[in-house]
Amino acid sequence: MEFIGKFHPLLIHLPIGLIIAAFGLELLFRKSSNPISLKSIRFLLGLAAMTAIISASLGYFLSQTGGYDSEVLFIHQWSGIALAFLISIFYLIRKTNKNGTVLRAGWGVILFVLTIAGHFGGSLTHGSEYLIESAPDMIRNIFISDQNKLIDKPLDSAIVFEDIIQPIIKRKCWSCHGNDKNQGRLNLQTVTGWDKGGKNGHLLKAGDPLASLILERVYLPIAEEKHMPPSGKPQLIASEVALLEWWIAQGGDFKSKISSLKRNQRIDQIIQPEFGNSDIYTELEVPSFDGDVLNSLQSAGIRILSAAQGTSFLEVNFSRDSLINPDRLKLLQKMKNNITRMDFSYSGVNNEQLEILGQFPNLVYLSLAGTTISDKGISHLKRWDNLQYLNLHSTEISDESLNNIESIPNLKKVFLWNTNTTEAALAKLIKSKPKLKVDY
Ligand code: HEC
Repeated sequence: MEFIGKFHPLLIHLPIGLIIAAFGLELLFRKSSNPISLKSIRFLLGLAAMTAIISASLGYFLSQTGGYDSEVLFIHQWSGIALAFLISIFYLIRKTNKNGTVLRAGWGVILFVLTIAGHFGGSLTHGSEYLIESAPDMIRNIFISDQNKLIDKPLDSAIVFEDIIQPIIKRKCWSCHGNDKNQGRLNLQTVTGWDKGGKNGHLLKAGDPLASLILERVYLPIAEEKHMPPSGKPQLIASEVALLEWWIAQGGDFKSKISSLKRNQRIDQIIQPEFGNSDIYTELEVPSFDGDVLNSLQSAGIRILSAAQGTSFLEVNFSRDSLINPDRLKLLQKMKNNITRMDFSYSGVNNEQLEILGQFPNLVYLSLAGTTISDKGISHLKRWDNLQYLNLHSTEISDESLNNIESIPNLKKVFLWNTNTTEAALAKLIKSKPKLKVDY
């Protein structure tokens, strides 16, 4: 049954074509009283009625295979059945009825119902934004005006799920997981849908982003079939993933306000300028990169993502990753000019491995917070001309590292609390680099 149902989308073009052909003849011969013209029109109508009935039956079998949005399916199904019925009636009355008003009304109704059935059929398979999705930007912007705006109310009153998470999911996931279409039996357009999850159940594990199905699928290498969004579709960017992670880590609640959740500096950087933190990269020029290389890194299990759509900046996330080894870091060297941000917080990175990191010339942000890094590691770091943020809190570094830190020319902010540095040495650093913000 499922097999024959699959012919519905193919066969459906027959009655549509026949109806339009019959309508064409009707227009062409509207002044003619030649019996041949009537016969031709009726012949086409008869074929249309037959194929419409067969298509509708196949459609019924297809609908039984599930996975479609029920409201859209309801409209499509009943308008399809109505169309098959209307065409059959019209075929019967067309033989004798000569009343122009009846004919015009008949055609009007048929073409109207055909449009409805066709439109909702298209929405079932392609999602309701299918048409505008590939439209030129100018047209798209008319329909998707809030595309780049993350929050349009005061930060304090914004709800994390509604104002931050859903707009991202709307842009990148609803076309397949929305009210119109439930791929994987997952609807991300409603809270109920989020709660219920897809065919594999719960999406979220409160407090544990990496064990949450939704992020598991996002973090899969893009070449993998189960990666979300599927390859070829607009992908999530690093800041969007960071927001999802943050929200789930903080409990993944649907009602919480931004002001009630703990924000770290990274999240502030993303949220405060409404969207994206790519502004910190504006003075940087990096070459474009080879997408295949990016895919191969992702396939090797490295969480590396584009920093913002349409830029060549890459961000690497090794946070809480205990399996860091020199080989994995060396893989990244293929992208060393493009990597602008690396997060090793609470990971297994060690002093020796930092030598490799010294060779990334365009690093703007580096976090080593919560690792076993000590002065020996910091001494490997050559001068970075572009480094602006360095996070070293909760590490074992001492006063010895402060000289190295001082020599980083463009450093704007360094986090040093919970380290072995002394207040006297920190005071000296602050004095000699007045523009540097030292958080301790
Ligand atoms: C082009 C269509 C498409 C887009 C866009 C898309 N998905 Fe999917 N998604 C699918 C399909 C098809 C499946 C079912 C097959 C599978 O499990 O891989 C699926 C399955 C899933 C599942 C597994 C559900 C389960 O319980 O098995 C999750 C989770 C998921 N998607 C999340 C997302 C997220 C998050 C986004 C947006 C960032 C997204 N998807 C965007 C097509 C899409």
